[in-house]
Amino acid sequence: MDNCSLILAGGQGKRMKSSKPKALCEVMFKPMIDWTIDAAKGAGIKDICVVTGHLHEMLEEHLAGRTETAFQSERLGTGHAVMQATDFIARHAGANVLILNGDCPLMDSRTIKDALDYHIKNSNDVTVVSAKVENPFGYGRIIRDAGGFLSKIVEEKDASASEKDCNEVNSGAYWFKVDVLLDSLTKINNNNKQKEYYLTDCIENSIKEGLRAAAFTASTADVVLGANDRIQLLYLNDKLRMKLLEKQMLAGVDIPCSEGVIIGPDVKIAPDTRIMPGTVILGKTTIKKDCVIGPNSYLVNCSVEERVVLDNVKADDSVIKADANLGPFVHLRPNTVIGKSVHCGNFVEVKNSTIGEGTKVSHLTYVGDSDLGKNINMGCGCVTVNYDGKNKHRTKIGDNSFIGCNTNLISPVNLGEYSYTAAGSTITKDVPAYTLSIARSRQENKEGWVKKNKPLKNMD
Ligand code: UD1
Ligand code: CA
Repeated sequence: MDNCSLILAGGQGKRMKSSKPKALCEVMFKPMIDWTIDAAKGAGIKDICVVTGHLHEMLEEHLAGRTETAFQSERLGTGHAVMQATDFIARHAGANVLILNGDCPLMDSRTIKDALDYHIKNSNDVTVVSAKVENPFGYGRIIRDAGGFLSKIVEEKDASASEKDCNEVNSGAYWFKVDVLLDSLTKINNNNKQKEYYLTDCIENSIKEGLRAAAFTASTADVVLGANDRIQLLYLNDKLRMKLLEKQMLAGVDIPCSEGVIIGPDVKIAPDTRIMPGTVILGKTTIKKDCVIGPNSYLVNCSVEERVVLDNVKADDSVIKADANLGPFVHLRPNTVIGKSVHCGNFVEVKNSTIGEGTKVSHLTYVGDSDLGKNINMGCGCVTVNYDGKNKHRTKIGDNSFIGCNTNLISPVNLGEYSYTAAGSTITKDVPAYTLSIARSRQENKEGWVKKNKPLKNMD
């Protein structure tokens, strides 16, 4: 039978003052419960069950199809939470079960695996993951006997003054032999200050029964960090942000200054790409090598090829091909494909459009619902007029065209290749290939008119 994991996430997290259950509060834009699930999965555990409680429907919906759930109808402590999943646990008889707190998003796969190795090597019945912290306040203390062997875990509220001095604390993660856990759950009670069924009491009971229980001390104190309020969430965000940046830097990404740089956990960036300050990259974004992203860029679910430069760019759900140079101040809205070596300059917005290789859209232009070919030059201030108040229509421009400054293209409209529009034109009809289209009123000069009429100041 394979090992399994039970994640405790029934708590409300009152101090978050959120309409969501605590486990759905996010750290680095990912719910805490997902960090915990990924840590278990990363350690090779496939069978996972989550104990839900407060606002359980929301958590169940979030987890649908990914994990089993067990509902705890009232919050009577971590031991009671585990009891709600006895069916799940019992199905793994003969194996080990990993218990995790759903509000400790820095618990990692490495620590889980190392703790399991330790658990198995020492033939332990239960192994608790502990950590040495500077300030143990609020955590359960790991109490050892004179020989250094684990004797019990005491909660803050039940601890004596000398027990409180102990700075080795319980992370809330444990490896139990399934049969040992099931048996000891039947033996715990709620005779304590909080009137709760403590999971930690299973350990003291096991020791008293002569079973093998030990603490595995994690190499970093971060694994115990939890969040009870938004201030602690910020602390976790700060920690995890740096961890994620470090991961990228170790993989070759250049981050010369980390101020304002946030890179989400699912973002993939190739070596020698430089991320400049103030840049947020989230979702399933991928970026190939030798790009310069930022300063002040915001990318969500984008795919960026080699040698792209993005200076002050906001982009969602877009593809940017090799050697494109965008910015400063470009906005790419969903469903945009920017072709190879394209340049978009300041105050250009592109939505639901493709722009072909080598095309330049340098200034103050809106391209919406359009297909632009290759090597087009869009002058300053052009607008694809895609919306008639009811419906959206597409604009098509053929390769090598020249769109004069301040051209309005009233869609639906097609311009052939090598078409040429005069500046200031409002194009309402298709323009065939190799055609100059002028769609503006003719200029009339009235010579001497100003002298005669003196409409300006200082003319008397
Ligand atoms: C628990 C441990 C403590 C450890 C700390 C680490 C016990 C008795 N204490 O304390 O030794 O140092 O974690 O973070 O286990 N939960 C339920 N149902 C309940 C109670 C809790 O699902 O009835 C869930 C919570 O949602 C949470 C987890 O269990 O995800 C831990 O519960 P919490 O109340 O935060 O325990 P701590 O007091 O922090
Ligand atoms: Ca807690």
